[in-house]
Amino acid sequence: MKILVVGSGGREHALCWAIRRSPLCSHLLAAPGNPGIGQLAELVPIAAEESDALVRFAQSQHVELVVIGPEAPLVAGLADRLAAVGIRAFGPSADAALLEGSKGFMKDMVAKCGIPSAAYGRFTEAEAAKDFIRAKGAPIVVKTDGLAAGKGVVVATSLDEALAAVDLMMAEKAFGAAGEEIVIEEFLEGEEASFFAIVDGQTALPLAAAQDHKRVGDGDQGPNTGGMGAYSPAPVVTEAVAQKIMDRCILPLVKGMAEQGRPYKGVLFAGVMIKDGEPKLLEYNVRFGDPECQVLMARLDSDIVELMLAACETQLAGHRIAWRPQPALVVVMAAKGYPGAYRKGSVIGGLGGAAAIEGVTIFHAGTKSGEDGRILANGGRVLGITAIGSDLAQAQSRAYRAVDRLDWPDGFCRRDIGWRALRG
Ligand code: AMP
Ligand code: GLY
Repeated sequence: MKILVVGSGGREHALCWAIRRSPLCSHLLAAPGNPGIGQLAELVPIAAEESDALVRFAQSQHVELVVIGPEAPLVAGLADRLAAVGIRAFGPSADAALLEGSKGFMKDMVAKCGIPSAAYGRFTEAEAAKDFIRAKGAPIVVKTDGLAAGKGVVVATSLDEALAAVDLMMAEKAFGAAGEEIVIEEFLEGEEASFFAIVDGQTALPLAAAQDHKRVGDGDQGPNTGGMGAYSPAPVVTEAVAQKIMDRCILPLVKGMAEQGRPYKGVLFAGVMIKDGEPKLLEYNVRFGDPECQVLMARLDSDIVELMLAACETQLAGHRIAWRPQPALVVVMAAKGYPGAYRKGSVIGGLGGAAAIEGVTIFHAGTKSGEDGRILANGGRVLGITAIGSDLAQAQSRAYRAVDRLDWPDGFCRRDIGWRALRG
């Protein structure tokens, strides 16, 4: 079967790596991909946002399954466009992807379905938003309704900070149209985890849980990023907690979405806050997490293509998903300066030596090929050094041994990925 993966990050490299293991995959294509993906798939120079060109290409090449990695093309309706021409797409329709595309829609669905979550208000007027904030007090969380590449959330510890966030989003329009409506939420305490399920419109099967490290610096200090590292499984998500997340945060939503005529198909990513063993929903994403996908794919033993096809065809019921016994951990290498301004084009050496360490796989995120085949940095998050081990401590030490074999003076990483799971 001919399969096309859409996207160019570490998540998509990990997906390609897992898809290539499937006997169902005869030919793998990636648009636009990256040099790491290029070792596994034929690269097609079409950006993830170019829906028209992607649909035309998939048709002309007789692609039988399109796997859509990032949220933006899903929210824009790429899965619908493909379905309209008879091509299977793994990923939700635009109607269902609104769960990530509009936090207001998501919060209303969560309330309708009785899913435990933070109390909230939706606002299109700054004054009403500010009155709500003054009435509730700090800490409080202010979010843009629309997609803002992970930057549209302010966890405010003071009233002034919360009021300033309203001005930033609504008056200064720092996030453009995404901030025309905002959501204000109660602050939830606890330990955060990423929980993943695969859904076929009716049936949801749990995949696995992971935890990522959003802050740029060691000890979870400094500004938020897309994620500086992750590990799976997540000790905080015990079997009992996982069952509660399925029963309270996943299954009621899948039922509610189907009842609304927006059946959800694809990967459902629930960001949850866990306190005293009780999960509350923070948000849904309509895709795999990045870098969580890297550790999930390192652990997955089942055939991912078989699961994706079953999800597309509402055939998930009865499937069993198998995992390797070893935990996995990924350390993200980023360009110095990230998440602020950074330089592109520096040469990354030592990749071969790093990848030779037992249990280690290197996923490319923001790289490009230079002349003479050298690999150059081409983004903020550049590499995902992923390792499995007999336990998490071994996975961590393997990943950092690989990091230490790299020759990339322009890069950096956190040195404490996994600390929460490894603290005595
Ligand atoms: P979101 O994009 O909605 O997941 O928000 C980004 C991050 O902000 C989350 O991963 C949490 O760390 C934090 N956050 C969001 N909402 C809340 C909340 N209601 N209470 C506490 N922290 C939150
Ligand atoms: N790592 C968090 C995300 O992908 O949204």
